[in-house]
Amino acid sequence: MSDQTPALELTGIEMHYGYVLALSGIDFHVNAGEVVGLLGDNGAGKSTLLKVMSGAHRPSAGTIKVRGQKVEFHSPSDSTAAGIQMVYQDLALVDPQDISINLNIGREILRKGPLGWLGFVDRKAMRKRSEAELDRLGVRTAPMTRPVEMLSGGQRQTVAIARSAIRVSGETNGVLLLDEPTAALGYEQTKQVEALIRRMAGQGIAIVLVTHNLPLCYEVADRVVILNRGSKVADTVLAGTDPDHIVGWITGARPSQFAA
Ligand SMILES: Nc1ncnc2c1ncn2[C@@H]1O[C@H](COP(=O)(O)OP(=O)(O)O)[C@@H](O)[C@H]1O
Ligand SMILES: [Mg+2]
Repeated sequence: MSDQTPALELTGIEMHYGYVLALSGIDFHVNAGEVVGLLGDNGAGKSTLLKVMSGAHRPSAGTIKVRGQKVEFHSPSDSTAAGIQMVYQDLALVDPQDISINLNIGREILRKGPLGWLGFVDRKAMRKRSEAELDRLGVRTAPMTRPVEMLSGGQRQTVAIARSAIRVSGETNGVLLLDEPTAALGYEQTKQVEALIRRMAGQGIAIVLVTHNLPLCYEVADRVVILNRGSKVADTVLAGTDPDHIVGWITGARPSQFAA
């Protein structure tokens, strides 16, 4: 895993909001099959960095490489085309619609013949395809025909993550960006999402996980990157790292690993 080209690599990223320097000289990478936790206090720059990765923000300086190729994202559709999917905190599900419709947003299968020309979708074909895709990911939720508004918080989160995972799984596994996926979840539901994240990584997907949940990080992340007021202060493998050190980097009590 050490000699591979990163699935996503950012170098020297700077991001200004007017006079506010939200990110300063950030180097970041995530490999295929790796889960990287992105940690930091409120205002540290986590969301801003995710937005740079997802193409929602253009950095003021720095370069982005996807599987070794330099890219420039002008919009989220550019990053999507490069195999990067962001799961937003609000999940962006269509509540009255069923699981299958939600999994197929933007890639609907049309009915054959005149009905298809008129834009009628083939619900049965979409359900079949989605069942196969979820099987491949090892995801179990409720029946495909259940409206997502009837699902539990954990099931909704699972559908949202699976929808993005489907779009980045395949021959060239992509990158999944998760912003606080368990913020609204209870213990059991968090465990479900934890298992799902590990399963996605097991299939070769690269995962960046923004979270305040340190125990979650210890469960699922291989490595953490810690931001403090727009700078990277630590980039470390988690196994064997003292949680007190992690907290110290988050709060600023502990000096940066990269201090000169
Ligand atoms: N749209 C914006 N306009 C101006 N400043 C912003 C904007 N978004 C974030 N910031 C500032 O950038 C810094 C990093 O914010 P953010 O990335 O949201 O941090 P985090 O997600 O770690 O809480 C903060 O100082 C914040 O106030
Ligand atoms: Mg944030």
